[in-house]
Amino acid sequence: MNATIELMNAHRSIRKFRDREVDDPTLAKIIAAAQCAATSHFVQAYTVIRVRDRSNRRAIAQLAGPQAWVERAPVFLVFCADFNRLEAAGRRHATTVEKGWAEQFVTATVDAALLAQNVLLAAESLGLGGVFIGGIRNDPQTVCDLLAIPDQAYPVFGMCLGWPAHDPPPKPRLPVEAVLFDDRYPETHDQNMLTEYDRVTNHYYLNRNSNLRDETWTAQMADFMGKVFRPHMKAFLEKKGFFLK
Ligand SMILES: Cc1cc2nc3c(=O)[nH]c(=O)nc-3n(C[C@H](O)[C@H](O)[C@H](O)COP(=O)(O)O)c2cc1C
Repeated sequence: MNATIELMNAHRSIRKFRDREVDDPTLAKIIAAAQCAATSHFVQAYTVIRVRDRSNRRAIAQLAGPQAWVERAPVFLVFCADFNRLEAAGRRHATTVEKGWAEQFVTATVDAALLAQNVLLAAESLGLGGVFIGGIRNDPQTVCDLLAIPDQAYPVFGMCLGWPAHDPPPKPRLPVEAVLFDDRYPETHDQNMLTEYDRVTNHYYLNRNSNLRDETWTAQMADFMGKVFRPHMKAFLEKKGFFLK
C-alpha cells in the first residue's frame, strides 16, 4: 500500500538483540517523533524512564518474570502515566488541581500507550525492534521504589528496544471483519470466524521459526480469561493516587 502501512504490517515483537548500542541521538529522535502522537486535551501525561543502571535492570527483569530480554536489551524504557507535571502547571496558576478521578487515570494511561506504540513504530522504521513489557506490573511498587516514581504517576509498562538478533514472522491478527462493524455492536461474535482464526493461528504456531507449539487463539484466550492476573493493581493504583473516585 505504502511504506508506512508495510512497516506496520511487518511488526513483530523482538526479544533477542544484537550486542550493539542504540545511540542517544537515535533514541532522542524516536522519542521526539513518538511525542507527536495525539494526546488527550494536550496533557502529555507521561514520563519515560530509561533504565541504564545494571542492578535496577536485573531487578526489573526478575520481577517481570523473569524475562531475560529485559536485562539484555540495549535500551529498556519504563512508560509512566504521570500527573506531576500537570500539577506543577496548576500550581503556577494557583489552581487547586483535581486528583484521583477514574477519567484522569484513563486519560494518562491512554496517553502513555499512544506514546509507547509510536516509540515502537518509530524504532521499527529505523530497523530496530522491541517488545512491550507488561510484566513490570507484577510488582509495580518495587519498580516505583527503584526508579523513584512518585505518587500521581505509575509505571504502565516497559519496553525493550535494540537491533534485532532474530527474525520471527508477524503474528496473524483477527480478520478486519471480526473487529470492524457498521453502526452498531454485533449481535454475536461469529463462531465460524473464530474457527477459521484458530486454524490460521494454529498454522502460525506450528510453522514459525522458533518455539513451535500446537496452540490456537481461542484456547490461549480461554486460558488467559480463566485466571486472575495482578490482583494487586487496584490497591496499588489507589495508593499512588489514582482511581479513587
Ligand atoms: C501492554 C503490553 C504488554 C506486553 N507485555 C509483554 C511482556 O511482559 N513480555 C513479553 O515478552 N511480551 C509482552 N507483550 C508483547 C505481546 O505478547 C505481543 O505483542 C503479542 O503476543 C503479539 O505479538 P507481536 O507483537 O509479535 O505481534 C506485551 C504487549 C503489550 C501491548
